[in-house]
Amino acid sequence: MGKREFRPENEYRYNRRAGPVRWILSHLARYPLLPLLTVLAAIFNNWFYSNIQLLIGRSFGLITTPGWSMPELLPLALGVMGSAAGQSLTGLARNYSTEFIAQRIERDARDELYISLLGKSQTFHGRQRIGDIMARVTNDVRMLNYMFSPGMMLITDSMMALIVPMIMIGRMQPRLLLVPGIFVILLGITVADYNRRLKPVSIARREQFGTMNAGLAEAIAGIEVVKANAQEHQEWRRFAADARLFRDYFVQQGEIQARYLPMLIFGLAWAGGFLHALLLWRAGIVGLGDVVAFMGLMGTLRFPTFISIFSFNLVQLGVASAKRILELINTETELDENESGVARPVRGEVVFENVNFSYEGTPVLKDVSFTVRPGETVAIVGQTGAGKTTLTRLINRIFDVDSGRVLVDGVDVREWQLESLRSQLSTIEQDVFLFSRTIGENIAFGCADATQEEIEQAAREAQAHDFIVGFNEGYETEIGERGVMLSGGQRQRVAIARAFLTDPRILILDDSTSAIDSATEDQIQRAMRRISRQRTTFLITHRLSQIRWADRILVLRRGEVMDEGTHEELMERCEAYRQIFARYE
Ligand code: GTP
Ligand code: MG
Repeated sequence: MGKREFRPENEYRYNRRAGPVRWILSHLARYPLLPLLTVLAAIFNNWFYSNIQLLIGRSFGLITTPGWSMPELLPLALGVMGSAAGQSLTGLARNYSTEFIAQRIERDARDELYISLLGKSQTFHGRQRIGDIMARVTNDVRMLNYMFSPGMMLITDSMMALIVPMIMIGRMQPRLLLVPGIFVILLGITVADYNRRLKPVSIARREQFGTMNAGLAEAIAGIEVVKANAQEHQEWRRFAADARLFRDYFVQQGEIQARYLPMLIFGLAWAGGFLHALLLWRAGIVGLGDVVAFMGLMGTLRFPTFISIFSFNLVQLGVASAKRILELINTETELDENESGVARPVRGEVVFENVNFSYEGTPVLKDVSFTVRPGETVAIVGQTGAGKTTLTRLINRIFDVDSGRVLVDGVDVREWQLESLRSQLSTIEQDVFLFSRTIGENIAFGCADATQEEIEQAAREAQAHDFIVGFNEGYETEIGERGVMLSGGQRQRVAIARAFLTDPRILILDDSTSAIDSATEDQIQRAMRRISRQRTTFLITHRLSQIRWADRILVLRRGEVMDEGTHEELMERCEAYRQIFARYE
């Protein structure tokens, strides 16, 4: 099992290492009785149907012999009725069990994929396109469903629809097997060839669907930017090009399907079989009833022939989808939740020891060392891109250091249990992310059992209560996707309220570029000041008024700590520090 940041209890162990087919089988293995039921039902279903053909043949045989009587015909007629009823019942069982398998597997696979996505590191999510992930989570998982229902169901059924009639024909008169025997061999060859040609096209078509979707998702997520830059035409053209390619694959697939040979071969076999049966009849080897039964049984071969045009393709697509899902699940992630790690209340001491860090080879932090005592407020200042945000991300292990150590209470963050560490650490970012839920739920995020009183208390402390009750529905107000209904400052206060509620021991306020009007600024600052008391706080800001509450200031320049001290000391001796304030004052 690879590294993961999240793992639920009692997880089912699927086989993820031996390729998509084994993975699907390991899903199937959870419900061993259902496939058995499907196969048995398919066998009996086809036996009943073939039996009807046989009985009809016998009836013909009977009524063409002189002197036949009604009591002789009656059991045959009743037999047909009974078989028809049996066919319906077994058909029901077959459909029920495959549908059950298909839905279960879709659900399980979706669960498994979602859990795995939750466990992936930030680095992983930073690399992936959301649209592509969405395509896999929705369409590819759905293809697993189709693979079983109707895909596997049709294949099982068509296998039986070949085997059972052949057995019955053989028992009637082995010589009659000649034509259907040749037919089955030709069918195998032509279907295999057809599937070999169809597979690459149908898989390319699905991949193209993913690409088209990803492009669309990105354009819609970034609609503000698209509109602000008047890029509608370009975006539309890109989409149109993607859609055209998708259509081309469709047409190509249609051409291959149109040239489906097996149906032609079936037609020839049917006629050839009839001729052969008549010759045997003339030679007195079979009776008239046998000819009728034989033709009825030959007719059952039409279904497997016809249905192979897409049943195998559904399975091929299912396997291809399984491969794409597995790719996502098996992508190694960098961190591990470290369940057996240190889990205890944090006091709040943070130490960086010769920390180096780079993003994909570009060094961002170089030999950073400093110590923050519990409860201390430390401001980090530096030009944009200096690495301030990055530095804080190493504390809650959004990323891990390349070399050196980050210690919380004297323990390397990599030795902490990830959940314990992260739950005692809060970050209020420049760009606050809110969920499209109510304001109350957003405040209580990360603290699901909070009462309404606790939520309101936190909101008051964050100076957010007043504006929240100003909304018609107060705390029940839905704030739209990503909190679009709120202003930047309001979003920030909701985030501060969230932090008050979770009461972290270490707090990171990352506010260096926020642009808030001065009327709300005062309120936010009061909220920030209040929350930074009694806990270790990293304050990333260029507001002098905020920097003044800091016990100490670190000056970061191009990833290196240049100096540290109080505002007065630094103004006196640090040129870089003076420059920053020359810019911002
Ligand atoms: P401001 O917030 O603008 O004041 O800057 P900052 O000091 O917080 O800088 P930050 O730590 O965000 O970035 C430091 C450097 O790392 C910059 O050169 C960024 O371009 C780079 N960087 C930041 N995030 C990423 C990332 O996710 N991937 C990669 N490859 N580079 C990043
Ligand atoms: Mg930043």
